[in-house]
Amino acid sequence: MKLCASCFSFLKTPSLEELKKGEIPLHVAVIMDGNGRWATSRGLPRIVGHKKGAIALRETVITCKDLGIKYLTAYSFSNENWQRPRKEVSELMELFVEVLGRELDGMIKNDVKLNLVGQREIIPPDILAVFENAEKKTENNKTLVFNIAFSYGSRQEISQALKKIALLHKEGDIELKDCSQNLIEQYLYTAGIPDPDLLIRTSGELRLSNFLLWQAAYSELYFTKTLWPDFNRKQFFLAVKDYQNRKRRFGKL
Ligand code: FPP
Repeated sequence: MKLCASCFSFLKTPSLEELKKGEIPLHVAVIMDGNGRWATSRGLPRIVGHKKGAIALRETVITCKDLGIKYLTAYSFSNENWQRPRKEVSELMELFVEVLGRELDGMIKNDVKLNLVGQREIIPPDILAVFENAEKKTENNKTLVFNIAFSYGSRQEISQALKKIALLHKEGDIELKDCSQNLIEQYLYTAGIPDPDLLIRTSGELRLSNFLLWQAAYSELYFTKTLWPDFNRKQFFLAVKDYQNRKRRFGKL
């Protein structure tokens, strides 16, 4: 069989203008996986992969803004990640503080609103203060809401929501019939944020790893073997192009 250039057209990176003619997802979520493997395959310490990953995330934020995407949620540190070796956790914390400090002015200038999505109670106070300062300084920004899922786990998120609702019921503030999907959503960390339309995971792993389990019920999933530090604007465009070719039915016909 003869293969022609058009056989590979699905691999062709579309331009910004081409993509903008199609449907742009309102909310994109990313599982930034593969930083460690990126570094170790080059004989480098894992933290170098995380640093390169932070640069890839910066490019993703800019790409989202250029495409007119309104919400980006990045899985930056899971509840389970607290159990990584102490050295990696403390290097990652230093990196978060450094990156937030370095990028804050840019977020303010570019009208990006930063939002921490996660279990705040278990975040060390000095780290939480850095996130909350960035949230405060960007609270009125509107162009892109950038959710950093940090100290985040979906099962923990759902259980804390249910505990709060159970307490309201116990105190007589709500009746059992009021415990609707809408009510549960109001107690998730993502209250007020629309569900992701497109969820991207890098590094070839095919799972959700406790990320947005409730919110991703009807998200279009996109998996790529590219490791997160190599995930760039072109790769993002390919993911959005793939999304634009999906037929979303939300369980209907
Ligand atoms: C997963 O790769 C990645 C992380 C646990 C950390 C991601 C953090 C950043 C990209 C920094 C972002 C900065 C801010 C301020 C949000 P992995 O370590 O699981 O990689 P592996 O699977 O190859 O080991």
